[in-house]
Amino acid sequence: MITKVYESPAALARASAARMLQVIADKPNALCCLAAGFTQNETYGQFVNLVKERQTDVSRIRLMGLDEWGGLNGTDPGSCRAYLDARIIRPLGLKEEQILFFPDGKQAAQAQCLQADALLDAQGPIDLMVLGIGMNGHLGFNEPGTEPWTRTHQVVLSDTSRQVGQKYFDQEMPLQTGLTLGLKDLLAARTILLQAVGQHKAGIVAALLRSSPDTSLPASFLHDTDCLFMMDEAARG
Ligand code: GLP
Repeated sequence: MITKVYESPAALARASAARMLQVIADKPNALCCLAAGFTQNETYGQFVNLVKERQTDVSRIRLMGLDEWGGLNGTDPGSCRAYLDARIIRPLGLKEEQILFFPDGKQAAQAQCLQADALLDAQGPIDLMVLGIGMNGHLGFNEPGTEPWTRTHQVVLSDTSRQVGQKYFDQEMPLQTGLTLGLKDLLAARTILLQAVGQHKAGIVAALLRSSPDTSLPASFLHDTDCLFMMDEAARG
């Protein structure tokens, strides 16, 4: 893992967008898996602007959803799919056939897990993985305790994720479970950008920086990869 500190969230977003664009320039049909957290708000805005400015062809990129809240899908405000629809899929005009898989919290989990793993086996590894870090060190919904070889699975959310997750919704939401790609496929991605923005992330960022790979902090497995850990000065603490 390589660590880089940016002077502001805007600087981090610009650098992230440029790296995302580079992956697509190098491989126009790149398999992209993008987190749907508030950390990425500015990055995705910059990325869409850059794609339009440079007239980059995104008609062949392939998109996979990282995670979804149990019981929700893209028709629900606050869902991961709705987030990516608004910030990536619609602004870039991606077609439905470019979305290889997106977890659907309203469908039976087991069949979806098998489908996602089969797709990753056939079309992976992921070329571009954009990740945020949860307040408890989770990646996607790979919660503390998750083994690094785990593949797509249904998760019983931790108390932290249930509470913190309320921020994505206008009203109180009974969050219990999630569906997520597993650590094995996240860690195998060719380009991994892990982002942390804001003072509220300083504690978990410090914990990650002093950690060794261990299931108690799922993001710590990124130490053994070429991940670029991008943080702003506030998150560095
Ligand atoms: C969420 C999602 C993750 C996200 C992380 C950080 O709950 N499951 O995919 O990256 O937690 O979210 P945020 O960027 O909003 O802090």
